[in-house]
Amino acid sequence: MGLWRKISIPFVGLVLAVYLYSAWEDFKPEMLRGKRVIITGASSGIGEQMAYHLAQMGAHILVTARTEAKLQKVVTRCLELGAASAQYVSGSMEEEAFATHLVEEAEGMLGGLDMLILNHIGNSYFNYFDGDVEHMQQLLRINFLSYIAMTVSALPRLKDSRGSIVVVSSMAGKIGFPFTAPYSATKFALDGFFSFLRQELILQSIDVSITLCILGFVDTESAVTAVADVVLVTPALKEECALEIIKGGALRQREVYYKYAATRIPLLIRDWAPEFLDYLIRRSYNVENLKKN
Ligand SMILES: NC(=O)c1ccc[n+]([C@@H]2O[C@H](COP(=O)([O-])OP(=O)(O)OC[C@H]3O[C@@H](n4cnc5c(N)ncnc54)[C@H](OP(=O)(O)O)[C@@H]3O)[C@@H](O)[C@H]2O)c1
Repeated sequence: MGLWRKISIPFVGLVLAVYLYSAWEDFKPEMLRGKRVIITGASSGIGEQMAYHLAQMGAHILVTARTEAKLQKVVTRCLELGAASAQYVSGSMEEEAFATHLVEEAEGMLGGLDMLILNHIGNSYFNYFDGDVEHMQQLLRINFLSYIAMTVSALPRLKDSRGSIVVVSSMAGKIGFPFTAPYSATKFALDGFFSFLRQELILQSIDVSITLCILGFVDTESAVTAVADVVLVTPALKEECALEIIKGGALRQREVYYKYAATRIPLLIRDWAPEFLDYLIRRSYNVENLKKN
């Protein structure tokens, strides 16, 4: 029995590792051909890059954000890249009615829904917590409550299509990083809500996948400008990041880690030696360069 255990446990581990690895590698761009996808926060950054990847894969795309002029350019580029169709709806996710009705409007425009990519974030500051509770509330509305409102509207349609919800989060939604208190709070909240929802969907045998994306530092203009000279880490590429998110959603992965080692290893340390991780994080900041208010 002892020998059996000694052999079987590593064997099962190996089979599981090969299975997970091969599932990861199984992605094919054709998986997205003809799929009807909403991407929020798609006028710039990672969301914009996701739109371009999906366009090249032949998806029907609906992009949304506040700035109409930028969305028009994204739509034009998506059509050039081969999107089956590309449209936009502009508006602010701070308005509950906009978040709630966007999915209904999108359904009419796309003729259904296969994938909902929740990616937008409101502007926040990168500095010591300033005690501004109103800003916290505003950010919760944009970064958290609108995600829930859209999910509630989309679920009946996604149940029909056995679709996917992709939630773009951050290492700051898993680990306490300094200078991002309001933003981090909204990202931790997303983990809580969508982890519970995933469990309940599985318990009810509802075939809608939820993929939570844990991203490290990525080279979008807003992120690089916000942390310039303070965070001493080289950002990863937004184009590659966008592709990894789409792959994870298409493969119905539970979580996406990008970049893998840069996010997975700190998360392992978090569970075993949180004080040590906190110390390493503090060491990776150049606090003297924080903008003075
Ligand atoms: N970049 C990073 O280092 C990094 C790291 C970890 C996680 N992430 C996550 O990745 C996602 C994308 O980040 P990003 O760096 O690509 O951000 P970004 O370039 O700043 O894009 C944010 C998007 O959200 C839209 N937006 C802002 N306020 C809005 C509002 N009130 N209503 C509707 N849309 C609004 C913006 O467009 P408009 O201004 O036109 O509305 C824009 O399209 C976010 O969820 C972020 O938390 C990024």
